Parts: sequence; structure tokens; C-alpha cells
Amino acid sequence: NEGALWGGRFASGPADALAALSKSTQFDFRLARYDIAGSRAHARVLHRTGLLDDAELESMLAALDRLESDVLSGAFGPAESDEDVHGALERGLLERAGEELGGKLRAGRSRNDQIATMGRMFLRDHARVVASGVLEVVDALVAQAEAHPAAPMPGRTHLQHAQPVLLGHHLLAHAWALLRDLQRLADWDGRAAVSPYGSGALAGSSLGLDPVRVAEELGFADATWNSIDGTASRDVYAEFSWVTAMIGVDLSRISEEVIFWATKEAGFVTLDDAFSTGSSIMPQKKNPDVAELARGKSGRLIGDLTGLLTTLKGLPLAYNRDLQEDKEPLFDAVDTLELLLPAVSGMVGTLTFHTERMAELAPRGFALATDIAEWLVRQGVPFRVAHELAGEAVRVAEARDVELWDLTDDELAAVSEHLTPAVREVLTTLGSLNSRSSQGGTAVSAVGEQLAELKRQLAPV
Ligand code: ARG
Repeated sequence: NEGALWGGRFASGPADALAALSKSTQFDFRLARYDIAGSRAHARVLHRTGLLDDAELESMLAALDRLESDVLSGAFGPAESDEDVHGALERGLLERAGEELGGKLRAGRSRNDQIATMGRMFLRDHARVVASGVLEVVDALVAQAEAHPAAPMPGRTHLQHAQPVLLGHHLLAHAWALLRDLQRLADWDGRAAVSPYGSGALAGSSLGLDPVRVAEELGFADATWNSIDGTASRDVYAEFSWVTAMIGVDLSRISEEVIFWATKEAGFVTLDDAFSTGSSIMPQKKNPDVAELARGKSGRLIGDLTGLLTTLKGLPLAYNRDLQEDKEPLFDAVDTLELLLPAVSGMVGTLTFHTERMAELAPRGFALATDIAEWLVRQGVPFRVAHELAGEAVRVAEARDVELWDLTDDELAAVSEHLTPAVREVLTTLGSLNSRSSQGGTAVSAVGEQLAELKRQLAPV
């Protein structure tokens, strides 16, 4: 078992089938940079406790620097015989620092605390990349909202026309969901900023090393207070994976709407050529593939979370090799989002909205019936009665195949004496929108205030 990190107690090396099963370098070598950073911090605490002298520390750090630049340039990579990133890097260190010095670095640490720490470092870095991608989608939504400050559209519930809303109001509803995802990532980082390094295999170290110094050097706020928890827990990974799944779902919901808006039947948007695709057979096609891939990839992000939670379920404390399975779903989640987010922000930012068509449809389908009922309430009619009367007006209009504003004064009066011609003041889209002016409402003024508040909450994330 030449070059392995273990073997003393074994008379023979592992079977080929085990070695193949055990190997993780094909995916975990991407953590090499973090493992080398951990090694530097570890060398310093070994030095501080007297386990490395000044000259040894200097040579060790120099060897780690050479190893890192060789990893970055591609001159050093995992060999067939390396089991995982830790084994590969130890081999690289021994080649550069010599067996004697290189062999001292493993004192007081275990792959179990190393890998738990590397994972957190990786996720904290990528959380920032993912957050900036999400922020760009929010910015694209905000820019579209600002570009259409007074454009009405049909607001729907059950996909049926419900009440007119402002396009900006609708777009910002998606922005608020994504803002909460950004807040979740920021909040998550508080729990991720705790370093397991120094937990050893599960019980801590007898060598008097200082985990808090290591934590600080690696950019963590603290070291774990329980070495078993440090090596065995993965809830912080699972929480990250939940947030990435939620981001996927939020993008999928935006995408589903874009797909619908782009249909001939809706005719609300035209996709930019740069963010749509053609058909190999139908020359006229312009397909919303970005949105469809976003919708599809949300399934994969949910799968990543489900896979990770399933791996964790039933694991006894402390470390179990099952935990090696934690990495691929997390890598997949960050890779997926980092690929997807720029495409979604590009798609949203370049949508052309057909505001005339949207405005034309906004009040249709009796979408102003609620306005009649609320107008009657303002005239002193109890809402139960007002709801009935507005419903009757809808029935009359539907029977005649006209909209509410097409009803004659006589037809309105026949429904109720309360329905005087004055009700027409609320039978316009803008009248309906602007009457909803309290916080969170769809009036032009309320949406302006909303936008300012959204920006205020975006500033710190
Ligand atoms: N490669 C392992 C992982 O990804 C870390 C090594 C721990 N192995 C062990 N036999 N304790 O979790």
C-alpha cells in the first residue's frame, strides 16, 4: 500500500475493487487549495507548541507554497495510487519537503476534521459567488420594474384573471423571494463560520494545538466546541443545500411565468435572440430554453438536497465513510447555480414586455368585480351584500358577452339601486390599481415605496 495514509497494521494492500470504490480524488481534488490553506495554519500551530522549530516551519511553508503553485498550474495532480485529496497532497508535500519533515505535518489532525473544514471553506466561498448571481437576477427584476413604472397587467390566482396589478409589482414579488434567499445565505454563513479543524478523528488532539488560532487563520469566527459534532455533523451543508434548492425553485417559478408570457396566446413578452433558441426543423421557432433549463435544473437541486439528507439519515456519531458522499451533491448544486444564474439574469434583463397588450387584458375577465364590491362598501353596503351584487353584475355581463364597463346604466340599476352611474369611476384599470395604495399594495405610489424598501433591504446582503 505504497504512499497511502494508512497501512501499518495491514499485511496486504487493498483489493483493486476496494481501491476503486474508495477513491474520491476525481471529485475531491477541487478542495486542494483549501486543504493546503489548512496545512499552513496547522503547521503554524505545530510550531507554536514546539513540534516544529523555526527552520522546519519555514521549510514546511515554502514546500506548501510550491505545492500550491504546482496544483494551480496543473503540474501536480492526483495519481492513480492516491485515495483522496489529503493523500495526494501529503504525497506532494513529501516530494517537496522530504519524508522526514513532510511526515511531521499530519500530527494532531485527521482527514475527518480536515474534510469537514474544507467543505465549509468551499461552501462559504461559493455562497458568495451564488449570492452575487442571485443579486444579478434581483437587479434585472428591479430594472424591469423601474422601466415600467405604470404598466398594468392581469393579476391571476388559479391562473385565472383575478385583479389588475402593476407589472412592476408582479416582478418585485419574485425579487422579494430572491432577497430572502440572499438573507438566508448571509444568515447561514454565521453557522458555517465555525471551524472543525482540531477535532481530530473525533476526540480532539492531545498535542496542545490551538483550534481557535487555526480557525482565525482560515477566516472562521470560531472553532467548534464539540469535536464529535465537528467531525460528524453535516447539517450546515444540508442547510446550504436547502437554500440552493430554494433558489432553484424560485428561479423555476419565474421561468414558468416567462414560458407562459412568451406564448402566442399570452403575447406578453418577446425573448431576446441572445436568450432564446431555435428548432432544427421548424424555422419559425423561438424557444424559451433558458427558462426551461432553469425549471429542469431546479429538479436536480432538489435531488442534491434529497440525496444529501438521505446520506445523513441514520448515521451514528461520529465520522462514517458514508460522509464521503456529501461532496458531489454540494459541488453539483454550486456548479448548477453558477451556470444557471447568469443565464436567468440575462434572460430577465432582456425581456421585451408588450405593455399595451398586457394593459388591454388587465381589466378583462371581470377583473374589476372586486372594485365594484369595495365601491359599494364605501357607499355603506355590507360586504356580504356588495359581493352578491357585484357577482350579479358579472352574471349579466357574462350573459351578454360584454365586460362590466359595457353594462348600461339601466342594467346596473336593475341589479341594484345602489349601482348608480357613479360606480364607473372604479371601472378603470388605473382607478382599480391606484385605490390599493396601502403598504404592499399595487398602486403606482405603493410600488414606488416598495421599491425603495426593497433596495434598503438589499444593501446589506
Ligand atoms: N475522503 C473522506 C471524506 O471525504 C475523508 C477521509 C476520511 N476517511 C477515513 N477513513 N476516516 O469524507
